[in-house]
Amino acid sequence: MTAAALQPGLLRDRLAEARDRTLELAAPLSDSDVTRQHDPLMSPIVWDLGHIAHFEEVWLLENIDGAGSGAEGLRGIYDAFRHPRATRDRLPLPDRATCLDYLDDVRRAVLRKLEGIDPRADTPLLRGGYVFNMVLQHEYQHNETILQTLQLMDGAPYEGLGMDWGRGGPGETRRGDMVHFPGGDVLVGTDDLSQAYDNERPRTRLRVEPFRIDRHPVDNAAFMDFIAAGGYRTDAHWSEAGLAWRAGERAEAPLFWFRRDGVWWTRTLGREAPVDSALPVCHVSWYEADAFARRAGKRLPTEAEWEVAAGWDPAGERASQYPWGDEPATPSRANLDAVRLGPAPPGSHPANVSPLGCYGMIGDVWEWTSSHFLPYPGFEAFPYPEYSEVFFGDEYRVLRGGSWATRPGAVRNTFRNWDYPQRRQIFSGFRCASDARN
Ligand code: AVJ
Ligand code: FE
Repeated sequence: MTAAALQPGLLRDRLAEARDRTLELAAPLSDSDVTRQHDPLMSPIVWDLGHIAHFEEVWLLENIDGAGSGAEGLRGIYDAFRHPRATRDRLPLPDRATCLDYLDDVRRAVLRKLEGIDPRADTPLLRGGYVFNMVLQHEYQHNETILQTLQLMDGAPYEGLGMDWGRGGPGETRRGDMVHFPGGDVLVGTDDLSQAYDNERPRTRLRVEPFRIDRHPVDNAAFMDFIAAGGYRTDAHWSEAGLAWRAGERAEAPLFWFRRDGVWWTRTLGREAPVDSALPVCHVSWYEADAFARRAGKRLPTEAEWEVAAGWDPAGERASQYPWGDEPATPSRANLDAVRLGPAPPGSHPANVSPLGCYGMIGDVWEWTSSHFLPYPGFEAFPYPEYSEVFFGDEYRVLRGGSWATRPGAVRNTFRNWDYPQRRQIFSGFRCASDARN
């Protein structure tokens, strides 16, 4: 990919659009709901708001004139490393109005700064608009974080606002159907320098052994079968760490599921409804995904397998940026962007199919992989080690593909998300894979 010139008009529009969404998510919330810490796993939402402003200030007003390395990090209460999420309710956090003013003040200064930038500037931060795309993706990612927080809170912040809750589609459950990859040399990752994160680089050639992978994400019907067959009680399905997690958590079903009148119900952003069999299962930990796969005689895919299934075109010897090709993600191509507040029934997005024949690789639910979050060979931290490098290691598992709550600009086939295997307040599901002979 060649580094395109920076496009000031386009960036201005994207910055405005990103901000509209942030404000739209926060607007229906009461003062107490934006200020309170709803769960130790998540920040008070005012922290996210102020942190979005501070990140933009640091990168687009302060660091932007430098080369990227040696850049200053986040300061004070918005330093995510000095202040872990669980402790953020003890910080002297500014109230909503002050955060909104901060967002506004920074943005005004950024737009003035943008006017003075030479679109052909060739520093690593400016080339192709990189640092703007990074700041945009940061805001997008915190938008999903805010939705995770709302999912954990008591109350239904968006009830009555005419949102689409994602029910009543053509969905039928689709079981057992797997696609086959005969094995071969493939390319994963990217060399893109205008929007990809450092952890997606460099593009790497590697050999992938023959495998099969589910054509669709595992759906609620299949997961209810797993529960009904005693999947949570059968130790043989669980890893040692999974057993410890299951005991500590007393897990018997995905997070937010409960029994009512003899059937499974679930709560999404405060709204209760019977679990819809046809939808991808959501809110499972890596341990639950792993146990389900073992019971099925399968396993989770590696992230390389996932990426091959999402975009590798054996005929063209190339990987596309999205399952449908290189055209950008839109809510009509995939279930993204909180257009509906939940996964969509299969069949809702017919274009969302990869060359290998996998559906729904982008959108609906983040998909757990078996891979730890590790650097690709030749990785170089850019523009700061605190995005990826400090998280590399075997504590985290990689998730791929984005969820219904992901903004389209914050996901692509090469995008790598990561989290602790016990986390399930995130919009996480999975599909299974297995070894194949050829
Ligand atoms: C990539 C989702 C793991 O939320 O910790 C936000 C994204 N990084 N601000 C996170 C991120 C800095 C990150 N994840
Ligand atoms: Fe952040």
